[in-house]
Parts: sequence; C-alpha cells; structure tokens
Amino acid sequence: MTDTKKSIHGEWSSRFAFILAATGSAVGLGNIWKFPYITGENGGGAFVIVYLLCVLLIGIPIMMAETMLGRRSRQNPINTMITLADEAGADKNWHYLGWMGVAAGFLILSYYSVIAGWASAYVLKAFTGSFFGADATAIKVIFDDFVASPVKLLFWHSLFMLATMLIVVRGVNTGLEKAVRFLMPSLFVLLILMVAYAMTTDSYDQGVKFLFTPDFSKLTANGVLTAMGHAFFTLSLGMGAIMVYGSYLPKDVSIAKTVYLIAGTDTVVALLAGIAIFPIVFASGLEPAAGPGLIFQTLPIAFGNMTGGWFFGILFFVMLVFAALSSSISLIEPAVAWLVENKDMSREQACIWSGSVTWLLGFGTIFSFNVWSEFKIFDRTIFQLLDYLTANLMLPIGGFCIAVFAGWIMKQQHTEHELDMPNALSYQVWKILICYVAPAAVFLVFLHVVGVL
Ligand code: PHE
Repeated sequence: MTDTKKSIHGEWSSRFAFILAATGSAVGLGNIWKFPYITGENGGGAFVIVYLLCVLLIGIPIMMAETMLGRRSRQNPINTMITLADEAGADKNWHYLGWMGVAAGFLILSYYSVIAGWASAYVLKAFTGSFFGADATAIKVIFDDFVASPVKLLFWHSLFMLATMLIVVRGVNTGLEKAVRFLMPSLFVLLILMVAYAMTTDSYDQGVKFLFTPDFSKLTANGVLTAMGHAFFTLSLGMGAIMVYGSYLPKDVSIAKTVYLIAGTDTVVALLAGIAIFPIVFASGLEPAAGPGLIFQTLPIAFGNMTGGWFFGILFFVMLVFAALSSSISLIEPAVAWLVENKDMSREQACIWSGSVTWLLGFGTIFSFNVWSEFKIFDRTIFQLLDYLTANLMLPIGGFCIAVFAGWIMKQQHTEHELDMPNALSYQVWKILICYVAPAAVFLVFLHVVGVL
C-alpha cells in the first residue's frame, strides 16, 4: 500500500479535525444517557471499575487497531477487510467482519435515533417551561406520557433521522467536520455546570459513593458483559465507524496519541455525567435502576428548580442532540461509503437508501415503549433485544476479530509502520494487549455469561 493513497471520499483537513470527528462519534448518548442508567441497573461502583478496565485494556488497543486498519486501506470497512486480508495473504472470509459492522450500524442507529428523538423533544419541553418547579413525580409523569405516544416518538425519530442524513449527504469535509467543531467543548462546559449543581444537593456524597465505591456482590455475569459491551459502544468500536473515520486520516498523524486523547475525553464525559446525575437521583428519592428513562427523569428536576434552569435546560438538551448527531453520522457512514464505492451510487442515493432502512427499523424501538411493551423475545422488548444484540454481542465479536486480525494476521512491519509509536516499548505493550489480553478478555467474558466459567 502506498503512503500517498487517499480515500475517494476526501480526507480530514487536519489531525484536530479527526480528533473532533472521532470524539464526536465516541461521545454521545452512550456517555450521557446509557452509561448512567446501566450503571444504575448494575449496582454502581463495581460495574464502573469493570467498565474502566475494559476501556483501558480492550478498548484503547482495539481503537488503535481499528483506526490503523482504516488508514492503511483508505476504503469502507468491507473493502478494507478484503484489501488487507489480501495483502496479508489471509482468507477472503474476513470481509464478513465488515458486513457485520455495517449491519450493527443500522441496528444501533435504529434505536439510537429514537432516543435522540427523545432528547430533541426535551429541547422543546425545556423551552416551553414544562419542568418549571416540577418535582420528581411530575417529571416522571411528563416522561411516561411522552413515551406512551407512538406518534410523538415517530415524529421526533423521523426528524432526527432526517437531520442525520442531511449532514451525511454533505460528506466528510464539509458535513461531518463542521458539525462537530463547536459542539464538543460546549457540551463539556455544560456538564461541569451540572456537576456543580449536583454538588449543591445534599446527596452529592451518596451519588459519588454509589459511583465509585465498588460492591462486587452486586455485579452479575451479565453485568460484566454489559460493562464490556459498553466499552465498545461508548468508544464506537467493533463496527467500522472508527475504521471508516481512520480511512480519512492523513498519513502523518500519530494514531496512538490521538486515540489516548479520544478515549480519555470519552471516559471523562461519561464519569461527569454520572457525577451529575446520581446525586439528583438520590436527592429526589428516585431509583438508580429506573432504566432508559433515567436522565429524562432526573435532569429536568434540576432544571426545573435551579436558577437559570430554563436556559441551561434548553442548552443541555440541544447539546445532547448534537452529541447524538455527531455519533449517528458515524453509525451510518460505513454503509454509505460502501454503497458509494461498490454500488456506484451517488452520496445522495446512498443516504436515502440507508436512511430509509434505518428509519423503518426504528419502529421496533418506538413500539417497545408503548403498544408492544409486553411483546418480548427472550424476555426482552425489541429495544432491549437490539441493544443486547448489538452492544453486548456484535460489537465485542467485531472487536475480537479486529484484535485477532491486527495482532495475528497483519504483518508486524505493517502494523509497526502504520501505528508509528513513540517508542519500541509502547509498541510491545500494544502488541501484547491486542494479541493476548483483549481477545482473551472478550472470550472469557462470553464464557462467563454462558455459564462455563
Ligand atoms: N459511541 C457512541 C455513543 O457513545 C455510539 C456509537 C456506537 C457510535 C458505535 C458509533 C458506533 O453514543
């Protein structure tokens, strides 16, 4: 592969642009909506520790591997796997990995968009002053009434999908890059403000203790799987999103340093969200295990009762929508890039196709919260099933295969050259993590869940 090879879709204008886009992909509903509620459902501290370990030992090395694969081939994830397997003299079947990623992207976006729709609806609710002076019970009624309406959920889901496609259609440099430039810093500031509010409640200590004091007796095998799956989900790993962004990365950028920064930021944002939310949960007598509605049932209480809450409430949900948008565009980009490269479609056609499929799939999640809430497969609603299938199974399996491919299949001279680590030791550490630690950890967690261990 020559060093001058570029993607036909364009290239990021700088390292900073890639950092913004990849951080935009990583930071999203996963950090602010999902992390707090799964932490609440899985008992707090012990879950957080497992999640942090997974980010460090599995997530970071795999993120480096995935970026590297994309940059080396400069194509969509499916073609990347074909080209690189060919280069390494390996089996053609590796391209199924790319396919699984594209499928996972569709499935994740189908529910991601519905939840991002909730956040969009809450912008309007904040604007019209719905939270003003409301207590926990009133806020819960607002949430329950909202999700009970399929029509409302469909409306907001459609709007969010439309916004996603409008950005994606404009392509890498204009659409994706501009969209994330101002959003990340603003979201960060706002979260710090929410943490400051949480400090004023008398349950701050209790919230922080819940988050950081481990009680391993509360952690089940499935909890460990959820923590590991979330490490993949929150870092956008295992489905080609980071691979496709890596394919737009200029040659001279250090992958290692860039990845540390992205993973670090993502983790800090999640922890800040937790620190902001749990004190409010306890101060309002709410259940930490309230499920997917957790942030929608807690943060509005804060906005309804703090000074400037009207303004901050609007701002917060606007930021959340933008954080979700900068993630959703990366969920669909692998499919769009594939349709453009392999099916000779224009970017517009590719967007219409993939957007429509995802939009339709979204109905399953919408109905999970109302008309089909009693309809269960394997004891799970459609939303829960999609979430489990993608975050807990497809992404870890995808990540496992990426680790095996980068560690065992690719030639050492290629990975060494492409990663361009600051020193030999860091390359060795990466190599051990990607060859042994990450694949073994994923495998052991799976064994643990099926009850073998
Ligand atoms: N990382 C995103 C989030 O935390 C979700 C995502 C998953 C995006 C997989 C792309 C790929 O919200």
